[in-house]
Amino acid sequence: MKKHVLRNAAFSAIALSGLFATAQQNKYVLDTKETGVKIQPTMYGIFFEDINLGADGGLYAEMVKNRSFEFDTPLMGWAQPNSDKLSLNKKSGYANVVEAKKSGNKNYASIEVNDDKGYSLINEGFRGMGIKEGDAYNVSIMAANQEGNISKINFQFLDEQGNVVAETSVSPAGKEWKKYTAQMKATKTVAKGKLRVTFTGKGIINIDMVSIFPQDTWKNRPGGLRKDLVQKLYDLNPGFLRFPGGCIVEGRTLEQRYQWKKTVGNVDDRETLINRWNVEFDHKKTPDYFQTFGLGFFEYFQLAEDIGAEPLPVLSCGIACQFNTGELVPLAELDPYVQDALDLIEFANGATTTKWGKLRADMGHPQPFNLKMIGVGNEQWGPDYIARYKVFEKAIRAKYPNIKIISGSGPFPSGEYFDYGWEQLKQLKADYVDEHYYNSPDWFRKNATRYDKYDRKGPKVFAGEYAVQTVDIASPDNRNSWETALSEAAFMTGLERNADVVYMTSYAPLFAHADGWQWTPDLIWFNNLQSYATPNYYVQKLYGNNAGTNLLSLTADGKAVTGQNGMYASAVLDKASNEIIVKLVNTSDKAQSYRLDVKGKKLAAEGKMTVLKNENLKAENDFTKETVAPKESKFKTGKSKIESEIPAYSFVILRVRIS
Ligand code: AHR
Repeated sequence: MKKHVLRNAAFSAIALSGLFATAQQNKYVLDTKETGVKIQPTMYGIFFEDINLGADGGLYAEMVKNRSFEFDTPLMGWAQPNSDKLSLNKKSGYANVVEAKKSGNKNYASIEVNDDKGYSLINEGFRGMGIKEGDAYNVSIMAANQEGNISKINFQFLDEQGNVVAETSVSPAGKEWKKYTAQMKATKTVAKGKLRVTFTGKGIINIDMVSIFPQDTWKNRPGGLRKDLVQKLYDLNPGFLRFPGGCIVEGRTLEQRYQWKKTVGNVDDRETLINRWNVEFDHKKTPDYFQTFGLGFFEYFQLAEDIGAEPLPVLSCGIACQFNTGELVPLAELDPYVQDALDLIEFANGATTTKWGKLRADMGHPQPFNLKMIGVGNEQWGPDYIARYKVFEKAIRAKYPNIKIISGSGPFPSGEYFDYGWEQLKQLKADYVDEHYYNSPDWFRKNATRYDKYDRKGPKVFAGEYAVQTVDIASPDNRNSWETALSEAAFMTGLERNADVVYMTSYAPLFAHADGWQWTPDLIWFNNLQSYATPNYYVQKLYGNNAGTNLLSLTADGKAVTGQNGMYASAVLDKASNEIIVKLVNTSDKAQSYRLDVKGKKLAAEGKMTVLKNENLKAENDFTKETVAPKESKFKTGKSKIESEIPAYSFVILRVRIS
């Protein structure tokens, strides 16, 4: 990542200036006759990666950090406030971590309590715990009394001052490991709370999987996902959900790659793994970032289904991240990796009589997930990638000829890696080629014509990761400004105009915890209580909810609108609602008048207009205020024309019924 180079970094402070603005009316022609190009239902989707505390500490609603003492430092996140009193006198009470009772979940804490004075452990949560007044929380713990009699385990939420704001307890009994559950209700909203666990009695007790979830999760699933965050994903109306990344797929080493089989089955048994973003950036080290895989592949498939998106899992192709070690699995030893891909398809689609289909059913989903595509590698490059891709391709096509395979063209949108990847993948008649680009606002606006020149007979494009960067790739100073979102909106008219080549697109990354991020900009920001949508989110949402079904031709003087007078435009038909949908982006600092002549059909007298705008290109949203948010209104049409004005720095969507 660090070696990424921002191409065309010379975007200027005067970007989007009024240079092009003109007092003249812009004249556009929209032809309602179909172009023959369909907008794929997968056109606008979601890229998910566990970066920026996206999963643990984010979407996955678990509030206890290091709940099963599996981090590299096994008591990380846990404090023993009265242990100083106890110091070396282990008789008085201490926690230590002892080895393995079962394979995936190796450690548990063993607590010796002799003084019966309220020995306690405190968990700090993920940068604190967000607690909501009136909300109920499910508490659970695995416990086994080893010696003596610890008769009670008390759980308390504490506010920032240490006051108790929720409380409950369980009564452990017997020497066998058992799960104990309880509920508690919060009396106060707290932004950065903690959990205190206190033991009553004398003896030694072993504990594991200390867990707290809000009851109010998405679809009220116990142990589920944060409702506000999933709602935001749902509202995007996404065509697909790509998971689990990103570089996280590849790992810094092969050992640390994402292995889906270790993320399914019993949540308690899933093996914790360091998150690659824990150590990636010197300026943003996150030593407490691990993957518990409570959000694993089953849950990703379920999420995709919940939000109406096609699932798109991406797997390691046997190359660790080439920005890190670039470790390679020799071709002769690639079989287990390929088998992982075949088994994943069986897990998603196989009959419940098959090994992996049965596991899916046992986990609560006997119906297939109807997987249609799979990614081989993330953003690998060079001959080593192509050699491995070929092995995967052969095996997948032989067993599952209907599954589409996503291949990759590397981390950059042009240059040696990119050209080589595309050339090879074209020859191999690849289905989809994934392109990644993080670049300046200027680059994005210029690249609104990027796909005009693509081979119509070649592989389809999956623009799998893109986002405007205000400073440089992965710079901590990048902002989710209106300028970035507006430039993305302009660029996306080019994606839409080329929907015969571009089949899938997704902004990246998706989530960022305000107190625990590594990479910016990101689509959705959250803390432990709230979340907010960036201007970039609203651009994605507007495209996702106005995708239409068929491309229409919209021109100025017979040419596509790709920056003339700072204007960008595209149009589609929505067959279901019989509406035309026009997208207009004004990147200039002046309001501009336009006349849109509509050929072939008559317009309804009234249409709906959605406007996303701000006069300040630096405008951003935050937890207190969404300064850049869409506003809807009605407007009058002529029978075969629309005449209006588009505000400075704005993205406007018009929807009108036709007959
Ligand atoms: O989106 C952040 C990272 O950028 C992804 O993990 C990687 O694929 C890309 O380089």
